[in-house]
Order: sequence, then structure tokens, then C-alpha cells
Amino acid sequence: MSSHGDPIPMIARKSAGLKGEANVPGDKSISHRSLILGAMAVGETKVTGLLEGQDVLDTAKAMQAFGAEVEKRGDTWHVHGVGVGGFAEPGNVIDCGNSGTGVRLIMGAMATTPITATFTGDASLNKRPMARVTDPLALFGARAYGRSGGRLPMTIVGAADAIPVRYATPVPSAQVKSAVLLAGLNAPGETVVIEREATRDHSERMLTGFGAQVTTEETDEGRVITLVGQPELKPQTIIVPRDPSSAAFPVCAALITEGSDVLVPNIGLNPTRAGLFFTLQEMGAELTFENMREEGGEPVADLRAKFSPNLKGIEVPAERAASMIDEYPVLSVVAAFAQGKTHMPGVKELRVKESDRIDAMATGLRLNGVEVDEGEDWWTVHGRGFGDVKGGATAQSHLDHRIAMSFLVMGLATEEPVRVDDGGPIATSFPIFENLMTSLGADLGREA
Ligand code: S3P
Repeated sequence: MSSHGDPIPMIARKSAGLKGEANVPGDKSISHRSLILGAMAVGETKVTGLLEGQDVLDTAKAMQAFGAEVEKRGDTWHVHGVGVGGFAEPGNVIDCGNSGTGVRLIMGAMATTPITATFTGDASLNKRPMARVTDPLALFGARAYGRSGGRLPMTIVGAADAIPVRYATPVPSAQVKSAVLLAGLNAPGETVVIEREATRDHSERMLTGFGAQVTTEETDEGRVITLVGQPELKPQTIIVPRDPSSAAFPVCAALITEGSDVLVPNIGLNPTRAGLFFTLQEMGAELTFENMREEGGEPVADLRAKFSPNLKGIEVPAERAASMIDEYPVLSVVAAFAQGKTHMPGVKELRVKESDRIDAMATGLRLNGVEVDEGEDWWTVHGRGFGDVKGGATAQSHLDHRIAMSFLVMGLATEEPVRVDDGGPIATSFPIFENLMTSLGADLGREA
């Protein structure tokens, strides 16, 4: 499946109970960061469990273009880094494909080295806002020349004598925070990022692992993250944990498909990522955390999800949004099978993801018989209860992997099949989705 090739129409039909174990791939956020930080360390970083989705493969290629050696031998990815400030100027345009995380983090990582690089992406990425990253990078002394509205393709001229920055992020975004921290690596002195709401903290944790000095303080202003610039990053051996955002799909599929009992082992429950699972429990989902443990300093559990005929709609707290921002599309599908309304406020960021996710989901849900209300930063799904969701329509995925997977999950429990115009984008984050879901007994696949 490729997000650049011909569309891949897919269909999901009402399925008998899903059963078995769902071994989901490595975490996308941690995979990007492993490659980028590995490329900025001195020596060889070894990574296992890397997500081999197109987004991450594009980041691997980009790191090669900046001079790092990246290759897979056996099951292990080897990244031979060039050190902080050691990036070479790429000989060609860097194509980040569909990946906002890839392009924004790489822009940050190169912005304080005196080289010039031009970035582009697919039709989805080239519509997304980049000023949120280039604004703070300009404070370091980098310059950005892009299309109108701060869009890709865009050229970044890295700062020759970077100055450290103190920056309060205007939007809750781990990508913006991470871009500033990565740029701060090659600025002298302390770079400070302040975020009002906690977003995923993988960059802070991994920077510390690579030997950088990073401190986080909770204050009245929010979370204050301080990085001491110009460290020598030490290469690491990284085992990438499985992706809770990918686990969301088999978990939600099991909750709405009659007779299901699915185990999703080894899922990280880092509080900055796990909001969906607590939300589902509040809705009455038969979702349990088994074998709770700590691994690599993170809480980890095996998730068991069973068919849950008595789901109820809830108010999802706005302050939980950052910890489940990628999971709203599939949550809205579960909400359709609940009794009563599920109201989701504080989610303006959903409008600038791989697609406008409120619009993409609301349109597809309505076509499939579900009422949805929406405003600029909120939406409400009117649940129909189990056994009363019609289906029967084709949803558009808008080059967005999570929209495609969400509607395919929906079709497992609707009265009539649900189609998706293009399942190609699924390969960006979850290339084994189709095989994994069918191995559990899901009736989904490509249309002839
Ligand atoms: C990510 C941050 C989030 C998330 C994306 C991955 C990251 O984006 O939606 O899938 O790895 O930092 P924002 O930073 O735009 O919220």
C-alpha cells in the first residue's frame, strides 16, 4: 500500500467475534525520534522494533541525506550519527511524504546548523501549517522560505550562530515542542519551551537517554522544559515500544464487534498517550489492563478488549485532548455504537492533522447513518446503540491513515458494509493493519 500510488478501495463487512492476539507495530513517535537523535549522536545507535511504516522510512532516508548512515541488518536498524551540528547539506529535496512529525522534527534538528535544505511532502502534508515551527526557529536565527500560508515546499536556511530561545508554544503540539528542543541542541546556553498543556514527552525522555541535560518543571505558567545546548549525544540501544495509537484500532474493533475477545500485548500507558483507554473505560467498555508493569521507565500493560454492548456516551474532558489527539477518529466510531451523545470539546488541532479530522469523520459518519454536530473546536456524535448503525456508504480517507482505519473498523459492526475510497495511506503508520485485522477474524480487505 502506498500513499503515492493509485487509490486502494477497501471494504469492511459485519464480522463474527474477533479473537486472538493483536501484535501491533512499533510506536511512530518514538521511531522518528530514534532515527533523528541517532543521527545527531556520535557513534552507532541500534534500534529494534522500529515502525517500518512509510512515514518512518521517509525519515530514515532524510537522515541519510543529512549525512548519517542508516541501515537495517537482521532485525536491527543501525544509525551512525554525525554529532550535534554535524549535518551535511542534502544534495536534493527532502521528501517527507505524509509525515508532519517527520518534517517538523527534521526542520528543527537542522535549523541551527549553517546548511540549507528544501522540504516537500504529499498533497496532504503540503497543505499543513508549518509557521508553528518556523516561527520559533526564526528566533534561533534560521530563515524559512515557503509557499503562501507557511506551506511546503519550503526551504530552511540554518542559523550560522544560533542563539538559544525561550518559547511558549501557542498550540498544544509535541511536534512544535520537539522542533524547538532539537534546534536548541546546537545553540549555546539554555533553550526553554513552555507548554500550557502537557503533550507527549518522548523527546524529553529520549534526549535524557542520549545524555542531554533536560529538566521539566510544573509551574503556574505550565510545563517548563529546559535543555542545555551543545551536548555530545551518546549513541543508544533502543527497543521501540508498541504504538498505543495503533493498538486503538483492534481494541475499538473488539468493543463493537459481537462476541469479541482480543488481547493487545505490550502497550505503553504513558499518561501523555493513554487518554483513549481511560475514556473507553468511562464509556463502559470491557477493557482491562493485564500484567501491569514498568518497562524502560514507562508503564506498560497487555490490553484485553471484549465486545461491550452497553456503551454509553460521555463528555470527554477537554484537558484530556492532548493525550488522545490521534484517537478521536476511532473514538467517534465507538461513540456511534454507544447509547446517548459523546461530546468532544477542545479539539481544534484535529482540523490540521493529515486531514481535517472532524470534517472527514463527521461527513463519513453522516453518510453511514450517524448524526454528528460540530463547531470549530468541538464535535458531538449522537450514539445509536448497538445493532442500529446502518453503514452502507463509502467514506473518503483524504490521504489520512487514521480516517481510513476508523471507517474500516466501523464496517465490522454496521448493518451494511462500509467502504473506504483509498486505504493506501494506512501504510504510513500501520502497514500490517489488513493482515492483523483479518487474522483476528475481521471481514475486511481490498475491493477487486
Ligand atoms: C506527534 C505529535 C502529534 C500527533 C502526531 C505525532 C509527535 O502532533 O498528532 O501523530 O510524534 O510528536 P502535534 O504535535 O501536531 O499535536
